[in-house]
Amino acid sequence: MVGLPARGKTHMARRVARYLRWLGVGTRVFNVGNYRRQHLGSRQPARFFDPDNVEGNEARARVAMRALDDMLAWFGSGGEVGIYDATNTTRERRRSLASRMRAHGLDVVFVESVCEDESVIESNIRQTKLHMPDYAGVAASDAVSDFRARIAHYERAYEPVEEDEGAFVRVIDVGRKVVAHRIQGYLPSRLVYFLMNLHVVPRSIWLTRHGQSSFNVEDRVGGDPSLSPAGREFAASLGEHVRDSGIAPRVWISTLARTAQTAAPLGLPFEEWRALDEIDSGDCDGMTYGEIRRDMPAEHAARRENKLTYRYPRGESYLDVIRRLEPVIFELERERRPVLVIAHQAVLRSLYAYLMDRAPSEVPYLPIPLHTIIKLTPITYECDEERVALSPALA
Ligand code: SIN
Repeated sequence: MVGLPARGKTHMARRVARYLRWLGVGTRVFNVGNYRRQHLGSRQPARFFDPDNVEGNEARARVAMRALDDMLAWFGSGGEVGIYDATNTTRERRRSLASRMRAHGLDVVFVESVCEDESVIESNIRQTKLHMPDYAGVAASDAVSDFRARIAHYERAYEPVEEDEGAFVRVIDVGRKVVAHRIQGYLPSRLVYFLMNLHVVPRSIWLTRHGQSSFNVEDRVGGDPSLSPAGREFAASLGEHVRDSGIAPRVWISTLARTAQTAAPLGLPFEEWRALDEIDSGDCDGMTYGEIRRDMPAEHAARRENKLTYRYPRGESYLDVIRRLEPVIFELERERRPVLVIAHQAVLRSLYAYLMDRAPSEVPYLPIPLHTIIKLTPITYECDEERVALSPALA
């Protein structure tokens, strides 16, 4: 990462890490500010960051190298994408970091965040910086002025990334403009595309399964069944709940009847996504779990063995579902309005894992009960979660 303080670098770094981990890429963020707090203490005044403060500079360079050493060791033990989250505002700092990384056989892409919009910087300072341990117990106005003095020190030394430094992505005003230079290959291209869709406008994402279907009642997988009487009752409660909230979210459903029937009482327009269809259970479609265990014991055992990678004969695995949901993730990131996703268990487990940064191995076991709305609201770097069980409750 490259950029002055309060340019959203950590937000971007964490989001990119969450996205890549969700895709199954071993990714870790190394935040130099955390190393500085750990090794030099969190209460450093603005003058510590003055480029003319020789002692401060040396101390900062030491912690930066310590973070790099840890990152290189982590690569040595199988890490795939390391995100080195620091200001890295001088050419010299970037040159020395990149040459050590390249000497370890790593490809380096600089991600530079530039903010020309003063309101984004102000809100970043207030939302994230004031809550750092650096300012614990300090009055907000003193903290803001100290942090602004810190930024001013960095500004004096700042040299934007130039083309002769290698591959880079420059994100200006949280995606208003994105410049990509020498970006090649699958992961760097996904990275640019992802960064183009990122924003910092707070809004909630609601996830819910369709109301109970006749297949749920019989414990059958797949199919395109209609809602049971209890499922229709839930659809009505959901409509009421959303109307009472006073929010008119965008509504996304799958192409299966049970999600459209659940959305109908909302009285809102909805969009159908094939990518939101339930995991394809292939040859097992329409069978009960008991029938699968009895008639296809090898399949039943293989699924129990590894539910994440197990693929139904002529159907899909959880990993397949995660991969096909990528366009939904990009659209979720891009959308600035609240979104209500009405979908299916395996699909919602996968989306939930993305939003809550849960490991792929956990995905097949995440609890997503019927008749429950899961409301996820991004706060600083994570999501706040609220679950509301609507009637009728199901055992
Ligand atoms: C910090 O110490 O907070 C950031 C270090 C840096 O990257 O300049």
